[in-house]
Amino acid sequence: MVSWGECPAMKRVQEMIQKISTTDATVLIQGESGTGKEVVARALHEGSLRAEKPFIRVNCAAITATLLESEFFGHEKGAFTGAVQRREGRFELADTGTLLLDEISEIPPDLQVKLLRVLQEREFERVGGNKTISVDVRVLATTNRNLLQEVRAGRFREDLYYRLNVVPIELPALRERGDDVLKLAEHFVREFAPKHRKKIQPLGREVVMSLKSYGWPGNVRELQNAVERAVILSGDSGELKAEDFVPAGSAGMTDGKGQDSGVATIAEMERVMILRALERCGNNRTHAAEMLGISLRTMRNKINEYRKAGTVVV
Ligand SMILES: Nc1ncnc2c1ncn2[C@@H]1O[C@H](COP(=O)(O)OP(=O)(O)OP(=O)(O)O)[C@@H](O)[C@H]1O
Ligand SMILES: [Mg+2]
Repeated sequence: MVSWGECPAMKRVQEMIQKISTTDATVLIQGESGTGKEVVARALHEGSLRAEKPFIRVNCAAITATLLESEFFGHEKGAFTGAVQRREGRFELADTGTLLLDEISEIPPDLQVKLLRVLQEREFERVGGNKTISVDVRVLATTNRNLLQEVRAGRFREDLYYRLNVVPIELPALRERGDDVLKLAEHFVREFAPKHRKKIQPLGREVVMSLKSYGWPGNVRELQNAVERAVILSGDSGELKAEDFVPAGSAGMTDGKGQDSGVATIAEMERVMILRALERCGNNRTHAAEMLGISLRTMRNKINEYRKAGTVVV
């Protein structure tokens, strides 16, 4: 279930989805992790004339460079060690439908060239094959990096960037969406209360304040998880408590002496959680970010923020 929210930036996103719904335009969806890029991609497919046709997704980051080409274009039997059978690639599977290239910024340079050709000519060959295959595929791409910056840094081909960016959709971070955080929280309460057989009261003042003051580095995904947790932890009163929005594993924010540390705002909890995660991971930022479900970039930004504020970070 989707709830778009009402802030101006999300209204523009909705209008854009409407406007291009019957076109085959290539769309580049940009936004931080958890802002709803995949939700937008699905909405674009479902609103299109291809809705009944396949919707195929490839994660360009999760697969090794060598396997990614075969993932995209398929391979012939014997094309490389392990290619014991002919295999169709995602472009073929998506024929007549939509192909979502997730995390497009991660695609290696030599494959960028090959992708450019498919986007221009809708033609390719399977790995180890010489037959040219034509497909009718609508391409959507997502990235949580600023792709233009990647172009300027020489990591992403400019010509491919312009091919992909025919229609740009920029998703705002949740912290920039004003009262949408409350709209979405209520939406997720409606979703999770029946799921966990709970009857939940309207959000109280303290919860509202906490939700609004927190930075939500993991965006809508983090809010969704936080609401589900708070719903699960709610008691018979059906009241959601600000402290129940704390991620599992860091429950009971104590000062180490078993005393309640008196953490007042979620922003404060966020700081404590990040510092603890770093501590547990021996200051390995990558691991700490993974543990919290936030990007390394967000982790770095937070650490810089705390340094500026004079909080000691090792
Ligand atoms: N408008 C929305 N309404 C309801 N749920 C939403 C909305 N936007 C995002 N979500 C939920 O938030 C979670 C994250 O959304 P999504 O996977 O689309 O984000 P993303 O931008 O693709 O994240 P990532 O960069 O990490 O891949 C999903 O569980 C999704 O269902
Ligand atoms: Mg995604």
